[in-house]
Amino acid sequence: MTMQTTTDRTAQPTAQQILARCRELVRPQLAAAIGRLHPWPGEMAAFSLGWSEVNGRPVPGSGTGSGSGTVPGSGGKGVRQALTVLCAEAVGAPGETAVAGAVAVELIHTFSLLHDDIMDGDELRRQRETVWKAYGTGPAVLAGDALFALALETLAESGNPHSGEAVRHLAGALNDLVRGQAEDLLFESRPWTGPHAVQPHEYRSMADDKTGSLLGCAAALGATLAGAPAPTVAVLARAGRHLGVAFQAVDDLLGIWGDPEVTGKPVHNDLRQTKKTFPVLAALATPGPAARRLTALLTSPTPLDDAALRVAAALIEEAGGRSATLDEAHRHLDIVRDCLDSVPLARAAAGDIRTLLPFLVSRRM
Ligand code: IPE
Ligand code: IPE
Ligand code: MG
Ligand code: MG
Repeated sequence: MTMQTTTDRTAQPTAQQILARCRELVRPQLAAAIGRLHPWPGEMAAFSLGWSEVNGRPVPGSGTGSGSGTVPGSGGKGVRQALTVLCAEAVGAPGETAVAGAVAVELIHTFSLLHDDIMDGDELRRQRETVWKAYGTGPAVLAGDALFALALETLAESGNPHSGEAVRHLAGALNDLVRGQAEDLLFESRPWTGPHAVQPHEYRSMADDKTGSLLGCAAALGATLAGAPAPTVAVLARAGRHLGVAFQAVDDLLGIWGDPEVTGKPVHNDLRQTKKTFPVLAALATPGPAARRLTALLTSPTPLDDAALRVAAALIEEAGGRSATLDEAHRHLDIVRDCLDSVPLARAAAGDIRTLLPFLVSRRM
């Protein structure tokens, strides 16, 4: 694929092409950073990114072109790194200016997934075993820690004159991410109904923290490293945060109605773990028989087996939880578009960001 700059465009690329271009731009420095790790956490990181097998053997084809493994999605979509590159371009700099930031957000994302899969007890991600399942919990915690440290080092040592400000953004995002994960876990033991039930505004705040934090940071890092003025950085960070809430709502949908063959992640585990995801909360908030039957099912004392989980998914859909979640995602995308309209941005990069928006909501993985 040829490199596109902000000026030599003839046609608007597709979302997949935009993500692939950004992954290719970031991949060499991401690989170089991973290469600086101790070989053991380095192997686990490479495994998580779809570059190597459990024994460290390289995955054929993963080192060229796509910036991920051979199976689509096996190395991650690269949404956060793309947002960093595109936001740098959007404020008029070459994407290269922000590659250290893109590497940092992708490393933090990978760290957060390694630890999240332990917290959620999930055994499948990116079409393969999760790192804790393949290597053990202790090693997976360590690999996550290694990626966390590497992200900070990458940003701090980037040589970019704005790296101090960039590290401050990242530190703030990490605090928020941890707060979001804490709420997500605490919500599991909250009841489905009654005065202590999780309210939609609590869900939004949790999703904004656990997922919006890093997408907002990704956008902010791109603009910051490109030397954009603080008000522009703030607007792009806000856009990224709303994109994150929309993204999480869709992640919730895929956790109920996604195809594991495509998502590479388990289905129905959120329900099994009584995660308070948006589709369920929206469904339970509706009047009518489907919501009543759903309440009865979710509050029954026996754990839900696979058949009961399928019934629950059907009832959530019948009660309108699926369409309400898509509406919620689209509401947040509208705010993203308003943010993009409110600051002067380079046309091609802003076009790329706009192209990504509907893709990130209609995605199947
Ligand atoms: C999954 O993120 C975790 C969430 C915050 C929803 P992605 O869907 O971006 O995961 P990969 O990197 O593409 O696997
Ligand atoms: C992941 O949230 C968010 C972070 C890792 C911070 P989820 O637990 O909802 O994401 P998936 O579905 O496992 O990817
Ligand atoms: Mg999870
Ligand atoms: Mg989780």
